Amino acid sequence: MTASKVETLRWRNNQLEMIDQRVLPAAFKYIAYDSAQSVATGIRDMVVRGAPAIGVAAAYGVALEAIQLSRQRLQDFSTNLTKGIETLAQSRPTAVNLFWALERMKKKWQSIETEMPNTIADELLNEAHAIMNEDIAINRTMGAYGAELLKEGDRVLTHCNAGALATAGHGTALGVFRSAVEAGKNISVIADEPRPFLQGARLTAWEMVQENIPVTLISDNMAGFMMNTGEIDAVVVGTDRVAANGDVANKIGTYMVAVLASRHNIPFYVACPLSTIDMSINDGKAIPIEERPVDEVKGFRDYHWAAEGVSIRNPAFDVTPAELVTGLITEQGVIKSPDKSKLVALFDL
Ligand code: MRU
Repeated sequence: MTASKVETLRWRNNQLEMIDQRVLPAAFKYIAYDSAQSVATGIRDMVVRGAPAIGVAAAYGVALEAIQLSRQRLQDFSTNLTKGIETLAQSRPTAVNLFWALERMKKKWQSIETEMPNTIADELLNEAHAIMNEDIAINRTMGAYGAELLKEGDRVLTHCNAGALATAGHGTALGVFRSAVEAGKNISVIADEPRPFLQGARLTAWEMVQENIPVTLISDNMAGFMMNTGEIDAVVVGTDRVAANGDVANKIGTYMVAVLASRHNIPFYVACPLSTIDMSINDGKAIPIEERPVDEVKGFRDYHWAAEGVSIRNPAFDVTPAELVTGLITEQGVIKSPDKSKLVALFDL
């Protein structure tokens, strides 16, 4: 099975199953989830990760909770489902798709709130299925727009994993690469690691290798060298939240790559579904940045190489200012040099 055919999340036997991305590529296994609390734990612990995939998981978390509660009286059902949604909202702070998906599920619920709990649960499950299917369609549309930006022979750097594994399928940044290859373009991918969670080395490299898309792995500190030697023609990354002025939050280290790309006149593109744009936040300074456990920086899994007693920081995301972004690749087309007026126009506000 190729990676793009892999179902990152799937609905089986009235449960949500998610690939355990913590153990890929050494092991490939699904874990089953049956409640909002369990899905929230799966998101926090990085079983599922990547902004759109987190949103889809959260939507199913709401539906699962509604199914669990569907024998309760309407008032208890409503109180407890609200608690479940709050638990999901606390799982991870940066990817706005989580909050976007929860808002959409709440809106669906509000439209049918006087129905019987089991009817509400059925409708919420249908809404979660819709969010999942729409995500794949959006990624395909973005992929087609993004593929047009790449030239024959381009060597394209990506940071972290914005692939099928970070979405319901096809991927955002990796969706651009897949669509370019499907269109017959001869491109190759350069994946950096990135430290500390190694989504590039473990997940992006795995996805590209599965599909025979040429991929070269570099460590995070090699991007400047490769740009300076003329071995990188473009950068395409994903994002967790874009502010109203076009500032982009993405995996820690993205800012470093963007600064280097600007210095070397290399285009820096961000693949970004509209659900990742947060018009309620003026600029990147207001985007909440997750701090993850320090053990992730001490070493990898149980093997720690850092000196005991050293103080450690682990911000999981950084913000790239809009001025460094060549274009946002969205399902509505490519927004070149994004700024507030262009994003306002995009949402027709
Ligand atoms: O901490 P992660 O693995 O959830 O971070 C993922 C990223 O930073 C991705 O680039 C981003 O979510 C976009 S995924 C299409």
